[in-house]
Amino acid sequence: MAFVLSALALGIFGDPPRLWLAVIAQACGAALIGHWLKSDRWWLWIHGVFPIAVAAANSLQIHSGWYLAALLLFVLVFGPTVRSRVPLFLSSEPTIEAVSELLAREVFSQQPDARVLDFGAGTGSMPIGLAKRHPHQFFDGVEAAWLPFLRARLKAAGLANVRLIRGNFWDLDLSPYAAVYAFLSTEPMPKLWQKACQEMRPGTLLISNSFRVPGIEPSQVLKVDDERETELLIYRVKDT
Ligand SMILES: C[S@@+](CC[C@H](N)C(=O)[O-])C[C@H]1O[C@@H](n2cnc3c(N)ncnc32)[C@H](O)[C@@H]1O
Repeated sequence: MAFVLSALALGIFGDPPRLWLAVIAQACGAALIGHWLKSDRWWLWIHGVFPIAVAAANSLQIHSGWYLAALLLFVLVFGPTVRSRVPLFLSSEPTIEAVSELLAREVFSQQPDARVLDFGAGTGSMPIGLAKRHPHQFFDGVEAAWLPFLRARLKAAGLANVRLIRGNFWDLDLSPYAAVYAFLSTEPMPKLWQKACQEMRPGTLLISNSFRVPGIEPSQVLKVDDERETELLIYRVKDT
């Protein structure tokens, strides 16, 4: 629809310098259509700003190879986001510390050989931070995006108690883990809880940074003293 509007605007306004009128018409038209279709407010901004940004970038006459390079970089970092709707953002240091204390208290004290997974490990800060704090326990991280995964692998070099796996977290069997840490988004939480209940042993923990499992009460909520005011929601897998 926005492109039809744009084509109409181009027909009416013609070539540059009036091309900018066509661009602005498309930006406004796309934002209005988004509003009409009840899109979230942040989408309206994207619809409005995107055509103007494209036209501005085009006027800079940058070699098209740079756009291809930027696209490749985006795919290597954010590729999995398109399907799983989980972007890359990282846990804070105080969050790593809080998870470490929680695991020591609730998991390692009863099960010294427990294994812990970071479900969508990003650049590996969580499993690597935990592995340094608990050299006698084992930590895995699974990550689908190539660049964050390679960065995590580099950072983990020399640590014998961290294993980083490149792949889709939905394909990983959760049964070996005493605790699974996830910092994802609202979208995958129902499916993750279902997977945890099917595969994890009763009494094991699903620790979710910020995102609740709809309809399930966490057994504990920990507030982390960091800039983001992180909330850790702790779900205990029950016998079903
Ligand atoms: C919000 S980040 C959290 C990173 C890390 N756990 C942390 O707390 O710092 C979520 C990560 O999940 C990854 N991800 C998204 N979908 C995935 C999938 N299907 N399989 C594996 N990783 C995925 C994203 O690439 C991203 O790096």
